[in-house]
Amino acid sequence: MDCFVAVAPRNGGWIAFLWGGLRRGSAVPTIFSLEAIGGHATLCQPYAAHEERSAMDAKTPKDLHYYEPANGHGLKHDPFNAIIAPRPIGWISSRDAKGNVNLAPYSFFNGFNYHPPIIGFSSTAWKDSVGNIQETGEFVWNLATMDLAQQMNATAAHVARDVSEFKISGLTAVPSRLVNVPRVGESPVSFECKLSQIIQLQGADGKKVQAWLTLGEVVAVHIDKAFIKDGVYQTAMARPIVRAGRRGDYFEIRPDAMFEMTRPD
Ligand SMILES: Cc1cc2nc3c(=O)[nH]c(=O)nc-3n(C[C@H](O)[C@H](O)[C@H](O)COP(=O)(O)O)c2cc1C
Repeated sequence: MDCFVAVAPRNGGWIAFLWGGLRRGSAVPTIFSLEAIGGHATLCQPYAAHEERSAMDAKTPKDLHYYEPANGHGLKHDPFNAIIAPRPIGWISSRDAKGNVNLAPYSFFNGFNYHPPIIGFSSTAWKDSVGNIQETGEFVWNLATMDLAQQMNATAAHVARDVSEFKISGLTAVPSRLVNVPRVGESPVSFECKLSQIIQLQGADGKKVQAWLTLGEVVAVHIDKAFIKDGVYQTAMARPIVRAGRRGDYFEIRPDAMFEMTRPD
């Protein structure tokens, strides 16, 4: 922090001015004057000039890229999924009524409730996963990790409904306990789920769009004990991968990326 002092006579005593750039990370110094008259020191309000400057900063418009999605984004790549990022990956295994097994990643995915635990993913077309889950009412979510990144990606291949992505990617289909859908044996965490709702999404005008939100209740959980320390599941130890933007940007979650912040009471 830069600091300057000036001294001048005033009212038979002396006045000392102290300037300091007190605001971290800002090019604009926060200026205070310290008046020392007759042995008394008073920390005064920031200079009016500075207040004006701060107000100007707040009012200065950022150079915003503005667009209305209905008319296009005007960029090289749609920023939407780079902004809603990183997103966890719903690596979903399912089975159709004939018994064919399916595995596919969905990054429009999240958890929506604690009790009962409910998770969901959105399919931006009527894809096999949604069709299978509608037919059998069951699915499994598997955690996609750095070690399984290539295999996860391979399961996004568009293949015929009777082709198992477990086979394509060389992953092990391990039977679940409460649902008749296998989990990914190599994945450190899996949730067995029962379908609760399939909701076709609609726009603000009420018109249906070609996207389906599939929600399911988590009825059984498998966690590799290597990632549980003192009774606490260690999110970053499993090194989950999460989707960023464009067609192939990801982040790997590592322990050094974590910080703790407790909520206000
Ligand atoms: C990391 C990743 C995330 C994806 N997220 C979605 C998504 O959220 N919604 C979607 O419809 N497709 C998504 N896809 C594409 C599907 O995985 C792909 O269309 C797949 O073939 C669907 O498989 P299915 O027809 O067997 O369900 C994603 C692909 C990858 C690699």
